[in-house]
Amino acid sequence: MRHTQPLEIAVNRNILEMEYAVRGPIPQRAAELKKQGMTTIACNLGNPQALGQKPMTYYRQVLSLVEDPSKIERERQLKKMLKGQALAGFEATDFTSDYVLDICDHFLTNMATGMGAYSESNGPLFIREAVANFINRRDKTDGMTDNGANPDHIYLTNGASEGVRYVIDLLIADANDGLMLPIPQYPLYSAAIKRCGGVQVDYYPDEDNGWTMDASTLEKAYETAQKDGVRVKGIVVINPGNPTGAILDEKTVEEVIAFAYDKGLVIIADEVYQENVYGTKFVSFAGKIGDTNVPLFSLHSLSKGYYGECGHRGGYLEVRNAPMVGGTDLSFTDLIFKQASVNICPTTVGQLLTYLMVNPPPEGSAPYREFMQEKRSILQELRDKATMIREGFSEMEGVECFGRTGAMYLFPRLNILPEGATDFDYCMNLLEHTGLCTVNGAGFGQKEGTNHLRIAFLPPKSLIEEVLPKWIRFHNDYVR
Ligand SMILES: Cc1ncc(COP(=O)(O)O)c(C=O)c1O
Repeated sequence: MRHTQPLEIAVNRNILEMEYAVRGPIPQRAAELKKQGMTTIACNLGNPQALGQKPMTYYRQVLSLVEDPSKIERERQLKKMLKGQALAGFEATDFTSDYVLDICDHFLTNMATGMGAYSESNGPLFIREAVANFINRRDKTDGMTDNGANPDHIYLTNGASEGVRYVIDLLIADANDGLMLPIPQYPLYSAAIKRCGGVQVDYYPDEDNGWTMDASTLEKAYETAQKDGVRVKGIVVINPGNPTGAILDEKTVEEVIAFAYDKGLVIIADEVYQENVYGTKFVSFAGKIGDTNVPLFSLHSLSKGYYGECGHRGGYLEVRNAPMVGGTDLSFTDLIFKQASVNICPTTVGQLLTYLMVNPPPEGSAPYREFMQEKRSILQELRDKATMIREGFSEMEGVECFGRTGAMYLFPRLNILPEGATDFDYCMNLLEHTGLCTVNGAGFGQKEGTNHLRIAFLPPKSLIEEVLPKWIRFHNDYVR
C-alpha cells in the first residue's frame, strides 16, 4: 500500500524546545526579502568573512599549499630556476616565501597522515603543544613548573561550540542540575542546557555600570537557584561578552574564581573574542586560576579575532584541574576524550588554521610585516565601525549603549518603543524598512521590562555609512 502522508514520530522534547535566535525568525525573514530582490545586511551573526572581511593572506597561502603539496615542490623549483633573474611583470614578493614553504613542510611532516585522513581525536600532539605554548606565552605561565597549560588537557575542536557541548553534556546529569549564565547570553549556552534537560540559572551583570558584576550579583543568583532546589554545578563566563561586548577586568575575573572556589563550581570560560578588545587588556581565566583547584574549561576559536575563519571550524578546549567523575576512578578528561573519539576528529583544515592562529609568523620572518599590517587594519576597522554606529545611537531617541566596545557587537537599549511593541517588532520593522538584519534582545535574555537589539559591527564602512542614516530616520519615526 502506498502512503501519501508523512509518518508522525515523537521526538526529544528538549530539542523541540531549543531556541537559537541568531538564526531565528528575523534572519529567516531577511532571507525571504533577499529572495524577493531586497538588499539586506546580515548583522545578525558574527560571521566576518560573509560581510567582506578578507582572510589573512598568510593563512590562505599555507592552507592552499598544504591541501596540494605538489605545489610546494613546484614553488621551490620555480624559485630555484629564477634565482637572480628578473622576470618581466613579477617581483620577488610574488613568489611564496621560503618561510611559508618551510611551515607547510613542517606541518605536513608532523601531520603524518596528511590532510585527507582522520587525525587523533583530540588533535595531534604537535598542535596541542603549540596551543599550550600560546596559552603559556599569553598568560606568562609555564606548563612545566607551575599551573600552566598541559598539551594532554587540550582538545582541538570543530569550533568552540563543540567544546561547550562536550562540557555541558557531562555536567547536566539530571533535571535538577543547573549552570549559571550571564544575562544576556550567547544562546549556544541556553540551547545546550535545554538540550540536556537542565536548568538555566540567570545572573545579571549591571548594564548601567557598563555590564560590570561582582560577587553579590553571583551570590544572589546562586542562592535563588538553591532555594528552588537546583543543584548548581558551574558558571559560564563569556569574556569579552556576546552580545554585550563587555570586557572583564582582572578584579572581576578573580572574584568569579573565588566565587567558584567557595561554592565548589566549575568555570566555563568562553574566550573566543580574546583578540577583539580594541586597546583594552584581555585577562584570561587560565592566567588567574593560580594554584586553586577550581575546574576550568576555557574555549578559544578560529571564528573570531582578526582571522574570522568561521566556516573552517576550528578551536580548542583547555581543561585545568579536571574533576573526577563521581562514583568512578575516571577524570573528566577521560570522558571528554571519549566524546571527541565518538566525533572521530575535528576537521584537519580547522586544525591547521588553529595551529597558525596560535603560532603567528615571528618578527623578522618574511610574512611578518604583511601579517601585522592586515591584523592591525582589520582590528582598527572593526573599532572604527563600532564607533560610527555608537555615534549613530546618539541621534536615535531613547537609545543608550553601555560599556566598552569588545567582541563584534553593540547591544543598545531601546528605552522608548510604541505602546505594545516589543524589541522583536522593532527589529522586524527595521529589517523591512532598511534591510538591516539584527537580533532582538529577547533572543539573548534580558532584564524584564527592558528592550534591546544586537548588531554585529562587521559590514564594510561604506555600507554602514549608507544604512545608518536610514536606521536613524526609521528609528525616530518608529518611536514617535
Ligand atoms: C560567545 C561565543 N562562543 C562561541 C561561539 C561559537 O564559536 P565557534 O564558531 O567557534 O563554534 C560564538 C559564535 O558566535 C560566540 O559568540
